Amino acid sequence: MNVYVENGVITELDSTRTQADTVLEADGLVLAPGLVDMHVHLRDPGLTYKEDILTGCEAAARGGFTSVVCMPNTNPPIDNTDTIRYILEKAEHAKARVYPVCTITRGMKGTELSDFAALKAAGAVAASDDGKPVANAAVMQAGMEACYKLDLPVVSHCEDLDIIAGGIINKGAVSEALGVKGMDRTSEDTITAREVTLAESTGTRIHICHVSTETSVALIRDAKKRGVQVTCESAPHYMLLTDKELLRRDANWRMNPPLREQRDCEAIIEGFCDGTIDAMITDHAPHSPEEKADFEKAPNGIIGLETSFAASCTALVASGRMSLARLIELMSVNPCRILSIPGGEIRVGGPADLVLLAPEERWTFTEADIGSKSRNTPFLGTEFTGRVHCTIKGGEITWQLKK
Ligand code: DOR
Ligand code: ZN
Ligand code: ZN
Repeated sequence: MNVYVENGVITELDSTRTQADTVLEADGLVLAPGLVDMHVHLRDPGLTYKEDILTGCEAAARGGFTSVVCMPNTNPPIDNTDTIRYILEKAEHAKARVYPVCTITRGMKGTELSDFAALKAAGAVAASDDGKPVANAAVMQAGMEACYKLDLPVVSHCEDLDIIAGGIINKGAVSEALGVKGMDRTSEDTITAREVTLAESTGTRIHICHVSTETSVALIRDAKKRGVQVTCESAPHYMLLTDKELLRRDANWRMNPPLREQRDCEAIIEGFCDGTIDAMITDHAPHSPEEKADFEKAPNGIIGLETSFAASCTALVASGRMSLARLIELMSVNPCRILSIPGGEIRVGGPADLVLLAPEERWTFTEADIGSKSRNTPFLGTEFTGRVHCTIKGGEITWQLKK
């Protein structure tokens, strides 16, 4: 089948006509809807030494993404309409569409609620204090009630800071071997249970961020069975890496939530396979080399846009766990449905946001493949199966692999 694109829009799906001004050959490749990452940190405004909207979207294009959803822990945070306008204006010239998430609380301070009506009108697609939990359950409950009235999804970073108590990696044999403070897994699970409970009582659509534990997957699976309006996401590193990697004492393997244990990796893969986990995200969290230099003092987070498809395809498709079509649901269709944003389809009249994929191609990820300003990835030198060949946003090629 040929896909015809005119002025950024798909105008025809046809196998007979052969005339066009520009022809992009895709022999041996798979054409899919452009990938959508519903959890990235673009660091703009305020932290542009780590990343800015243009470089973050360059990383996105290289990873096959045509849309990204950016988290509000910028400086200032996305708790005001001026910041949303700034982001949307700058994103007009970027290689991906950008959809901002606004904060749940003003200044992400956890006390006063944001003006959700104004923020939604300005373009916010969800509310989250990601980077931090909303510590006070009554504040979270009030936030969910307010968002329910506006039909704005609430996105929750589940972490009990009292249990974390200064921990820097998963609490267990590895944290003990290294002699560093651990982050007990119950810090994630207790707040996952709290959010599911609050969503059930308020009726709000809750989306649980970066699920990393076996127990949280089970809690969400049970809640879905009861009919709670809960969706969730996880990331490639929670399928492919365990806390044993931390034995090298390198902060490029530190993120929040932290790498867990083998049984958690298996539970995350199982959660993706049985539909408990709805979306693949990166939690793309750029930090400078200076910030990441000290294993114990470094901030949490890794970049991920450039490797997300390859790592996911390796873990789920090349391993025979799911079809490529199912992976495209996780990486494009479902994020669009959860947040009610355009994309996730190849349809006449729809935007020409497309990606060409080679799901069986083996390749090794190197620094030359990075589009981000930052370099904090655990995957340098990793061989993947599955590669992005070309990314098309609104009919324009934003990335093409050199032959
Ligand atoms: O690893 C993380 N990095 N987890 C978060 O929750 C925040 C993020 C960041 O902003 O760096
Ligand atoms: Zn988070
Ligand atoms: Zn995040």
